[in-house]
Amino acid sequence: GKSYEHLLVSSPKPGVGLVQLNRPKALNALSTPLILELNSALRGFQADSSIGAIVLTGSNKAFAAGADIKEMKDLTFSAAYGSDFIESWSHLVTFLKKPLITAVNGYALGGGCELAMMGDIMYCSTSAVFGQPEIKLGVIPGAGGSQRLTKAIGKSRAMEAILTGDNISGKQAGEWGLVAKVFETPEECTEGAIAQAAKIASFSQIAVKAAKEVVNKSQDLGIREGVEFERRVFHGLFGSKDQKIGMGAFAAKQKPEWSNE
Ligand code: CAA
Repeated sequence: GKSYEHLLVSSPKPGVGLVQLNRPKALNALSTPLILELNSALRGFQADSSIGAIVLTGSNKAFAAGADIKEMKDLTFSAAYGSDFIESWSHLVTFLKKPLITAVNGYALGGGCELAMMGDIMYCSTSAVFGQPEIKLGVIPGAGGSQRLTKAIGKSRAMEAILTGDNISGKQAGEWGLVAKVFETPEECTEGAIAQAAKIASFSQIAVKAAKEVVNKSQDLGIREGVEFERRVFHGLFGSKDQKIGMGAFAAKQKPEWSNE
């Protein structure tokens, strides 16, 4: 495939796309060129019908230590506003319809924490250090941190993290439900994320896409509209071939061979 300056991109298992942030000298600080490469790599996996789920990870030392402070240091209001600085970070949330698992080892600070929280499923190891330290730099989170962290762990805990800049350990992130699972070691975390991605990729891609869509709707809709939306999408799946294949295979005591149609 394509090669990147700040990423390693591979497919470690059938159906699984892996993106590893690889800017070790800056602890994977999320510069604009890195984010553009990340969007490009994820768009590539989105367009590749052989890929069913994607894992995003960093190094053992850092998932990402934040937005690139050296790049931002001299930014003016008009340049930030005029270029919609950081808006491109959120693109992946809208164009990526395939599940994204973020596997966090080491630092996930500021924009790194925010990027990790863009994952549909978050995993971490006990080495993970989450935090929104922007307050120490005279700013606030700018890539969704105030919204996603608050939804994930509740207002009081998110306020504390954002107002004090105090970090949240991997263990604490597990207890608070920020992540779905905490692994003992970075290797187990990455391998565990890849294994779960492979499992997701083994199902009907139509059903997986619908499942991600309906769960995400719960973040924006009230319960009544959300349940109605879910039911409509559920009804729609009876128009897919894979519903016939899946339920037919169960009744015949066979393994389903998905058509992705
Ligand atoms: N931006 C640019 N460079 C960074 C960086 C960042 N966010 N984080 C680390 N680096 C660079 C360091 O400057 C250093 O470079 P040099 O070798 O050229 O000096 C290199 O990465 C290694 O870092 P350290 O020497 O600092 O490593 P450490 O192990 O002593 O400390 C750390 C690690 C605690 C994570 C520390 O690097 C740190 O505090 N980083 C900044 C964290 C931060 O404030 N992040 C929030 C950024 S703002 C933001 O993200 C805005 C937003 O909401 C979008």
